[in-house]
Amino acid sequence: MNMKLGICNDHAGVEYKFAIIKHLQERGIEVKNFGTDTTDSMDYTDVAHPLASAVESGELEKGIALCGTGNGMAMSLNHHKGIRAGLAWSKEIGALVKQHNNANVLVMPARFISLETALEIVDTWLDEEFAGGRHERRIAKIPFEG
Ligand code: RB5
Repeated sequence: MNMKLGICNDHAGVEYKFAIIKHLQERGIEVKNFGTDTTDSMDYTDVAHPLASAVESGELEKGIALCGTGNGMAMSLNHHKGIRAGLAWSKEIGALVKQHNNANVLVMPARFISLETALEIVDTWLDEEFAGGRHERRIAKIPFEG
């Protein structure tokens, strides 16, 4: 069965979003678009939470989120217990965010990386495997009960 992936973006990530959707579709991945399709200013929270809920519910396997710095998206997504949103700005971090953190949502800072780098990060994150072992123990400790 084809992988189903969600993508969300604010106005800072529109251009990269369309290029990433095309790239994912070329890889045979089904993509649900939660983001804005215009460059009109909007609040990243309004698209981050619906994407997170769709991944948490199992409707979608994974997600990708884009905003200017990546931080607004990461902060919003990580409020969801079933989400591990990891910020990546290089191919190497794209690999580690899967190998060590098993991020189920990849977040990228659209205003600070090239489109070429963004596409490389997407491929690396998708193709790498979670390393498990000590990293399994660590990610299990992330949800904070207080
Ligand atoms: C939008 O100007 C910008 O604040 C947003 O894309 C993001 O960087 C927030 O964290």
